[in-house]
Amino acid sequence: MRFRGALVATVVALFSLVAVRVTADEVAAIDDADLANAAASSGSWPAHGRTWSEQRYSPLQTLNVGNIAGLQLAWRHDTGTRRGLEATPIVVDGVMYTTTTWSVVIALDARTGAPLWRWDPKVPREIGQIACCDVVNRGVAVYRGRVFVGTLDGRLAALDAATGKPLWEVRTVPESGAYTITGAPRVMKGRVVIGNGGAEFGVRGYVSAYDWEDGELLWRTYSVPGNPADGFESPVLEEAAKTWRGEWWKLGGGGTIWDSMAYDPELDLLYVGTGNGSPWVRQLRSPGGGDNLFLSSILALDPADGRLVWHYQTTPGDTWDFTATQHIVLADLVIEGRERKVLMQAPKNGFYYVLDRKTGELVSAEAFVEVTWASGVDPETGRPREREGQDYSEGLEFVKPTFFGGHNWQPMSFNPGTGLAYIPAQEILGAYRRDPDFKPVVNEFNVGTDLNVFSAFGPSAVSGHLLAWDPVAQREVWRIPHGLPWNGGTLTTAGNLVFQGTADGRFVAYRATDGRVLWTTHTGSGVIAAPVTYALDGVQYVSVMAGWGGAFAQIGGPAALGVENGPGAILTWALPTSAPTAEEFEALITREGEDAAGERLYHVWCSRCHGSAGISTSGIPDVRGAPSKLGVGFDAIVETGISGTGMPAMGPYVDAAERALIRRYLESR
Ligand code: HEC
Repeated sequence: MRFRGALVATVVALFSLVAVRVTADEVAAIDDADLANAAASSGSWPAHGRTWSEQRYSPLQTLNVGNIAGLQLAWRHDTGTRRGLEATPIVVDGVMYTTTTWSVVIALDARTGAPLWRWDPKVPREIGQIACCDVVNRGVAVYRGRVFVGTLDGRLAALDAATGKPLWEVRTVPESGAYTITGAPRVMKGRVVIGNGGAEFGVRGYVSAYDWEDGELLWRTYSVPGNPADGFESPVLEEAAKTWRGEWWKLGGGGTIWDSMAYDPELDLLYVGTGNGSPWVRQLRSPGGGDNLFLSSILALDPADGRLVWHYQTTPGDTWDFTATQHIVLADLVIEGRERKVLMQAPKNGFYYVLDRKTGELVSAEAFVEVTWASGVDPETGRPREREGQDYSEGLEFVKPTFFGGHNWQPMSFNPGTGLAYIPAQEILGAYRRDPDFKPVVNEFNVGTDLNVFSAFGPSAVSGHLLAWDPVAQREVWRIPHGLPWNGGTLTTAGNLVFQGTADGRFVAYRATDGRVLWTTHTGSGVIAAPVTYALDGVQYVSVMAGWGGAFAQIGGPAALGVENGPGAILTWALPTSAPTAEEFEALITREGEDAAGERLYHVWCSRCHGSAGISTSGIPDVRGAPSKLGVGFDAIVETGISGTGMPAMGPYVDAAERALIRRYLESR
C-alpha cells in the first residue's frame, strides 16, 4: 500500500457515510459562480468540458513531465458492462459522478473508487434498436446538490447528489418518434439544457431547457423547420424553410443536437452543434437542392429563451452525414495581432473551424485530415468549395472523410499554454452509393445510402492518430499514429501533458509541446471516452472510463479490428507516495481488508508488466488465478524471478506477507 491518498480515503470513507445523511444543499453545492470560476478552482472537474468553455484543460501541475513516468493505478472500479463507455466523469467535493451503459448513473468516492450510490433509470431494452450508435451515455451535469442525466429513452432526471434519489423526471421527447439521448446535459443560470439524437431514424432535431428546480420546460428550439402547414415556431424557421425543397418534414429533416455545447457567460451565449440530415442523401431529403438550414451547423442561442443569435453552417446541403456535433471549444487567441474571442470545432467534415464567437463570422478553416469532398472553405463567404461528383449523385463515390468523420464525438482539448488543440483524428475512406431501393420506414434506419458498400469495403483503409493542431496558424504541429481509428477523447494540463486512451486499450501520457510518449499503461479494453483530472489532499488523480463501443465497434466489431474488449471499468491513477509505516499498513489491512491491500500491492509492483487487475494485454502472462495454477511455484517465481525471461526477482521488494496478500488477490480475480 503506497497510496497515501487511498489511506486518507479510508478515513474519509467513514465520513462519507455521514455525508450521505446531510442535505443535498451541502453536497456538490456547485452553482453558477463556481462554474464561472472553474478555471481557478483547479482541484475539481465540475462540468462536462471542465469549464463552460469546454477546453478540457486543467491548471493542475502536480503531475508533470518530470514525474509522470511514476504514475500508478490508484483504483479501478469495474462497471460490469461490456458495451461502450463514453462518459466524462464530473468530480466535485471528493465524489465522482458518471454514467455507464443504459444511462445508469453511479457516484463513487473519488479517492478510492468505493461506490456510494447507483441509479438505474430502467431504460426499456427495446430502445436499443433505435440507438444508432450503441446504448451509450456521455455523462451527467452537477449543479446545486443535484445530478442531471438524460436517459436513452428520452427522459431528463434530477437526482439528489447525496443519495442518488430521483427528485424529478420529465419526458423530453414525443411519445412516438425514434428519439434517444446519449449526450450530457449542461447547466447555466438555473437552466438544464438537453438535446437528443435519432436523425438516422427520421426525427426533427431540437434542444430544450428545463428549470433545475422543478423540471419545468422553459424553452425549446428546433434546428430545422417542420411541416409549413402546421405553422412555423419562429420567423427564423420560416426563413430556414426557404432552404428546403419537397416534403422534407416527412422524415423529420434531422439536425439533431446530440452532443456538443459550450457557454460564454460574458456574451451570455449558448453554443450547440447540430447533426446530419434525415435521410443522408440530399436528393432524397430535399429534391432540387438547398442548404437545408440548420443542418450541420453551429448555433449561438440566447440561453434565456433559446432564440437564435447567429448560425454558421459547416456543410450546406450535407449528404455525407457530416455532423457539426463534435466538441465545441471556446478560447481567446491572438490572431494577426488582435485578441479574438473564438469558438473552435473540428467536425466530421475534416475542416478545423475558427469562428468569432460573438458574431459567427469565419476567422479561418483548414483541413486537419485528408479531405476530398471540398477543395477548401471560401474565406469571404464561409462556404465550402464542393468538389464535383463527390455527392455521389452519379453512382459510387469514394470520399474522405467518411460518416465516421475526420473526428467524431470523442472530445478534443485545448491547452492555452501550448496554444495547441489535441484532436483524436482519424483517416477513413468512405464509399458512398445511393440506395437504389430506398423506401423510408417509420422509426427505422433511413439513411438512403447503401451501407453494404462500406461493409464490403471493410475497415481495411482505416487509421487514427492523435493530432496536435495550431489553431492560429491552422497547421499540424505533431502527430502520433495509432494504427486503429476510434480512439479516446483527450485531456491536457498545465503540467505540459496530454492524456489519451486508444482503441487498442492503451492509456498514454504525452508531452504536450512535442508529443513525446512519457508513460503508457494498459486498461484491458479499448478506450473511447475522454480522461479527467482532479486533486484531493494534495494528490492529483487522472481517471478514464475504458470500454470499447459506439458506432465504429458496431460496424467493424472489436474482433475485426483486433481490439481486446475487456469488461468496462473506471481506472484512476496517481503518483505513489512514500511507503507507509508499519502502523499505517496494519491499519489499512484491518480497515480495508486483505483483498484491498493485495490489490494495491499488485498494482504497485506487478501491474506495469502483467496488466491492470491482472488482465494482460501484452505477451506477458495473464496472472489471474496463477497462484492455484502454479502452487508453491508461484512463491518461487515471485521471490527469485525466471532468469532470462524478463520476470524479475521481486523478493527484494515484496516480502512473504505482502506476497501472500498479492497471492490472495490474484486468486480472487
Ligand atoms: C518487469 C516486468 C515484470 C514484473 C514487474 C513482474 N513480472 Fe511476472 N513475469 C514477467 C514476465 C515477462 C513473465 C513471463 C516469463 C516467461 O516467459 O516464462 C512473468 C511471469 C510471471 C509468472 C508466471 C506466470 C505463468 O503463468 O507462468 C508469475 C506468477 C508472475 N510473473 C507473477 C508476478 C508478480 C506477482 C509480480 C509482482 C510482485 C510480477 N510478476 C512482476 C514480467 C514481470
